[in-house]
Amino acid sequence: MYTLGLAVLLACGGGSGSETGDTTTRQPMPDGETVYGLRCASCHGEDARGTGAGPTLEVALDRDDAVLVALILEGWGGMPPVVIPEADALAAIAYARSLF
Ligand code: HEC
Repeated sequence: MYTLGLAVLLACGGGSGSETGDTTTRQPMPDGETVYGLRCASCHGEDARGTGAGPTLEVALDRDDAVLVALILEGWGGMPPVVIPEADALAAIAYARSLF
């Protein structure tokens, strides 16, 4: 009983989000690899080099971030809009660039 109580205490402790300056903030940082894997890889491939459903991103990623974000959020030709937060789109772009 005591062990269980302690575990619950640890799991719940410190999550108040107060301004104590600790580095483990609860601000969710979009993880580009996760966003890309969930929202882009099905068409553009895990390696961003394209599948039957979408082209390679190699050349396209040279465009400005703003252009790419608009392309993702609004759709582009044969690509349907991918409705995600702008920060997630930027993270996915950064991750895709890291693959080349
Ligand atoms: C449902 C499939 C699908 C999904 C999901 C998808 N795309 Fe696409 N994407 C396409 C297709 C198809 C094209 C080609 C559109 C065209 O040229 O008409 C494309 C084009 C693009 C282009 C421009 C390529 C070029 O050469 O002009 C970029 C950049 C891009 N996608 C990025 C992404 C990113 C980043 C994601 C995830 C946030 C994503 N796409 C999700 C299908 C998809």
